[in-house]
Amino acid sequence: MRDVLISPSILSADFAKLGEEIRAIDKAGADMIHVDVMDGHFVPNLTFGPPVIEKLRHHSDKPFDVHLMIAPVDPFIDAFAAAGADILTVHPEAGPHLHRTLQAIRAAGMKPGVALNPGTHEDVIDPVIDDIDMILVMSVNPGFGGQSFIDSQLRKIEALRKKIDATGRKIILEVDGGLNPETAPKAIDAGVTAIVAGSAVFRGGPDRYAENIAALRGEMVS
Ligand code: DX5
Ligand code: ZN
Repeated sequence: MRDVLISPSILSADFAKLGEEIRAIDKAGADMIHVDVMDGHFVPNLTFGPPVIEKLRHHSDKPFDVHLMIAPVDPFIDAFAAAGADILTVHPEAGPHLHRTLQAIRAAGMKPGVALNPGTHEDVIDPVIDDIDMILVMSVNPGFGGQSFIDSQLRKIEALRKKIDATGRKIILEVDGGLNPETAPKAIDAGVTAIVAGSAVFRGGPDRYAENIAALRGEMVS
């Protein structure tokens, strides 16, 4: 199996001890930390914002892969940079000026990413592909962990793989939602280079994290 980055989503962690949970997934082999920010408006759920991320930042040196499910985005970009986000991913539907938002993320010192909902066409990427470092394919409708992988998104991943290869640049192609040891190989075959997983990483508690992360890579842990 190809090398793939694993980005555990702390949405499935124990919110009462997030710092401890981040240290545990870091030690268990996570490559990045996926942080889902929700505003109860762009998606029907609420999580947390920059002050919480700033506190969590001290618990790992791994990149913070911050997935914004908020609208608007622009007034908060500097706060996410100050909190320590490394990659800041936005949905095109979150505002009228995607290109401006991506430029502002870059200017604030972060890597810009674009997230595509299951109902959003991959061609939305075309005008901004040279301005981004990550494309995040949502394989569930955003808002909640523990949903089932939507198979039709595999064709979108294949199409995006071709678009990325044509640029000659190293853009991370990440998939988010319903990933587990059964669905991850399908996404990897379709061309992703990073996998987000919440429930499949955190199930079973800290003693299982290393085994759960390895299983997503297609490895066995004895
Ligand atoms: C959903 C979030 C995901 C979520 C994935 O809106 O973007 O990151 O935590 O959870 P699982 O892996 O449980 O589907
Ligand atoms: Zn996410």
